[in-house]
Amino acid sequence: MEVKTMGIVGAGQMGNGIAQVAAHQGGCEVIMHDIAEEFVAKGLATISKNLDRLVAKEKLTAGDKGAILKRIRTSTKIEDMTGADFVVEAATEREDLKLGIFRKLDECCAPGVVLASNTSSIPITRIAAATKRPELVIGMHFMNPVPVMRLVEIIRGLATSQPAFELTEGLAKKFGKTPVACNDFPGFVSNRILLPMINEAVYALYEGVGTAEAIDSIMELGMNHPMGPLKLADLIGLDTCLAIMDVLHKGLGDSKYRPCPLLKKYVDAGYLGRKSGRGFYDYRNQ
Ligand code: CAA
Repeated sequence: MEVKTMGIVGAGQMGNGIAQVAAHQGGCEVIMHDIAEEFVAKGLATISKNLDRLVAKEKLTAGDKGAILKRIRTSTKIEDMTGADFVVEAATEREDLKLGIFRKLDECCAPGVVLASNTSSIPITRIAAATKRPELVIGMHFMNPVPVMRLVEIIRGLATSQPAFELTEGLAKKFGKTPVACNDFPGFVSNRILLPMINEAVYALYEGVGTAEAIDSIMELGMNHPMGPLKLADLIGLDTCLAIMDVLHKGLGDSKYRPCPLLKKYVDAGYLGRKSGRGFYDYRNQ
């Protein structure tokens, strides 16, 4: 089966990145949905800015950019997903929200359409159980920034069928990504390993082991990480980091996954990282 029209639920930093690669590398028609006009407009503006960068580097012509943007339709009604033949959900990392979205998608999408989630940590099996098509529900986990990162982590739920897996794997390749499969356990592989490291970096800051700059420099210069863990947390979003740590803590039941109180405090203060202008670093003048 060929995927011609991709539906994407959520136009935030992950959703608009997925829309970009689907329309650009994938050559698909895209329906990018979010709950309000301002969110889809912001998502589209980000895609346009990212494509401008490629035009400036002569990796894309202005004509190509126009054609890619033309393939992206926006929508504020989830019922518009009726027109999609593969859907990826990239909404906020909240289980109740995602389960509600999957119930609606199950109602409005044609039978046989695969419903994928870009969740960072919520069990695919549980999301699948909210639908009447659990064999067609799968994890398709892109990394941030989506246009740059090569990986798509593909997570099979308990009931995910082989054809749904192969379709998702093929789509990731079509988008220029390398799919890697794993099983459905809290945090999958990527966040089971990445987030405890980030959480530990927050503890190091909390306990005064080093400043944010020192912690990040040590990991960048000493371990060759492209960006230190606190800068990366700001890129991912501190609310998302906290949500993932909560899933690991609850799902694996081990105190070693306890979210750092400082991470909680930052989220309570609305310091969510780059997207809110402030996290472990200040981005308000950028
Ligand atoms: N969107 C599109 N392109 C971007 C971008 C963005 N937001 N940010 C950077 N780029 C592009 C740049 O244009 C540049 O392209 P060229 O090579 O064609 O010139 C390239 O990426 C490198 O950018 P820079 O030179 O500006 O900066 P850099 O070398 O420091 O790279 C980075 C930036 C790619 C973000 C790099 O720092 C990096 O890889 N950081 C780690 C990112 C990471 O770990 N992501 C995974 C997060 S975990 C996750 O997403 C999953 C989850 O569930 C939480």
